[in-house]
Amino acid sequence: MDSKLRFDGKVAIVTGAGGGLGKAYALLFGSRGAKVVVNDLGGSKKGEGSSSKLADQVVEEIRSAGGTAVANYDSVEDGDKIVKTALDNFGRVDIVVNNAGILRDRSFARISDTDWDLIQRVHLRGSFMVTRAAFPIMKEQKFGRIIMTASTSGIYGNFGQANYAKLGLLGLSNTVAIEGRKYNIHCNTIAPVGGTRLTEGILPPDLFDQLKPEYVAPLVAWLCHEDCEDTGGLFEAAGGWYGKYRWERTQGHFCRKYIEEEVTPEAVRDSWEKITDFTDAYHPQGLQDLKPWKEIQAKPASATGAVTSGPISAVGVK
Ligand code: NAI
Repeated sequence: MDSKLRFDGKVAIVTGAGGGLGKAYALLFGSRGAKVVVNDLGGSKKGEGSSSKLADQVVEEIRSAGGTAVANYDSVEDGDKIVKTALDNFGRVDIVVNNAGILRDRSFARISDTDWDLIQRVHLRGSFMVTRAAFPIMKEQKFGRIIMTASTSGIYGNFGQANYAKLGLLGLSNTVAIEGRKYNIHCNTIAPVGGTRLTEGILPPDLFDQLKPEYVAPLVAWLCHEDCEDTGGLFEAAGGWYGKYRWERTQGHFCRKYIEEEVTPEAVRDSWEKITDFTDAYHPQGLQDLKPWKEIQAKPASATGAVTSGPISAVGVK
């Protein structure tokens, strides 16, 4: 495993690549042989204004290091234009890193319509628009690697960041991963931490200096490589440390003994300890692992279509 990971012949779109994390991704892809579309609207961190300067500088950096890159200054809301830039210049799209982002932090009750809408338009809708434009091309060529960018603020919550709602990107990624699988299109989500203009003044200065965007980029590169088989994953990256998340679910508890039995709020209250008991918890991989559903459905219906009566334990539900 000592061969260098290369992206020769591959075309990578990195959104919001004019600075911060996206710039680090674009430079890494460029240095490993990918042709890079450096997208950046060039506005403020709150999402106001625009400029071509940021994207141009990164393109210049990639080119002067011997790589191939082209700039695109559209908002991710115009995803088809960004994909068109890739097609017009390089004829294909293999990799999409949905990274563009802004921040409009407010405590929950103070979030304005604009604070909510702008954030959702850039992060969730923008990632959808770029990915939807690229997906048919990836499907046709039977290869694609897509990254969605979430945040630990989405995973755990963070004061003042309700509008950021970055775990929505994981929801999007989960289904893109399922629909892409048979076409060799992988979609993974990352929750990065990096010292950038978004975190300046939020991260303590010594940590800010340690958490260089360049330490997040290797995870993105590996997830986007053709040799990486992971899809539908959620990964965290900070300062050269990487980890993977998964769901954990209690064994749960049936609050009725018979199929036709009514379930009351009191029955839920009285079983709360069992419902929330993580002893023997397991890690469901998908809808196929939702045990109670599966086992209820496995119970044969009567000829009239009504569910037959009988003890639930008879169909193997604990
Ligand atoms: P950054 O502000 O340094 O870079 C984001 C880039 O996106 C900027 O260059 C900006 O001009 C561009 N951009 C903003 N709106 C755009 C639009 N509509 N279309 C195209 N480009 C647009 O921020 P950073 O920190 O590098 O963030 C990158 C991503 O990582 C964001 O999605 C952010 O939410 C996410 N993230 C960052 C964390 C961190 O610790 N820096 C933590 C968790 C998530």
